[in-house]
Amino acid sequence: MITKTRWVPDMFEERQRQSSPDVVYQIRGLNVWYGAQQVLRDITLDIPRNRITAIIGPSGCGKSTFLRTLNRMNDLIPGARVEGEVLLDGQNIYAPEVDPVLLRRRVGMVFQKPNPFPKSIYENVAWAARIHGYRGNMDELVEWALRQAALWDEVKDKLDQPGIALSGGQQQRLCIARALAVKPEVLLMDEPASALDPIATLRIEDLMRDLAREYTIVVVTHNMQQAARVSDLTVFMLAGEDRVGTIIEYGPTQEIFTNPRDKRTEDYITGRFG
Ligand SMILES: Nc1ncnc2c1ncn2[C@@H]1O[C@H](COP(=O)(O)OP(=O)(O)OP(=O)(O)O)[C@@H](O)[C@H]1O
Ligand SMILES: [Mg+2]
Repeated sequence: MITKTRWVPDMFEERQRQSSPDVVYQIRGLNVWYGAQQVLRDITLDIPRNRITAIIGPSGCGKSTFLRTLNRMNDLIPGARVEGEVLLDGQNIYAPEVDPVLLRRRVGMVFQKPNPFPKSIYENVAWAARIHGYRGNMDELVEWALRQAALWDEVKDKLDQPGIALSGGQQQRLCIARALAVKPEVLLMDEPASALDPIATLRIEDLMRDLAREYTIVVVTHNMQQAARVSDLTVFMLAGEDRVGTIIEYGPTQEIFTNPRDKRTEDYITGRFG
């Protein structure tokens, strides 16, 4: 019988020591297809640690597809094919020995629409940790994750109530708590506030700034103000007439928004298209 003595064995430990401490992802020559249609071409990008990187660009340019390449969620889409390298702490996550389930523990994801499980608030957070073999004090872990997601005070007296009975903004923070409960390094967020009202949106943005002290965040957003407010780096993507998305420009958010080098970036951020 195999007993897990540790939290979860970390297959990347050795590699972590070899790679740059400041860069989480090194993406080199990434191409993605759905069937015969190419949707991403030659994406080459470094994603810095403990920073928020925003991905912006018009609908259909491949932002969600790109985000999903970072934790191999595209594996779950029939016909999706990925070429190129995505190094996480120096290791190619597409290498055959990499277990996508363990990978997704290290790289959590939060979606556009809050999607709590039809379970209690407590169980929403505890479940993922349990299936990953967590053997510690579950009450402590649930409280820790809910505090990290800035939700604890609002729910501490009703942990046994259904997660779906919370407000939209609270549900999204519950989903963030659920993602954090397995102690990821990276949090991928695909338009995490687009279904929320302005107040709930600002709470999520504040939370993202707090979380960036300990986690790396990559966020897709349609909201230019949000990208400008919340991110340290901005990546602008665009698809041509062939519908293949590529990076037009990336750099410090302030530079992209105040002094873009490419006319297309300027046109997009000033709302001339998209
Ligand atoms: N599961 C899929 N199967 C086939 N094609 C897909 C699939 N998902 C996305 N596509 C196509 O891939 C391209 C990129 O889609 P993607 O969802 O990554 O864009 P996006 O930039 O996230 O768009 P949006 O801003 O509307 O969310 C589009 O042409 C889309 O039609
Ligand atoms: Mg999308």
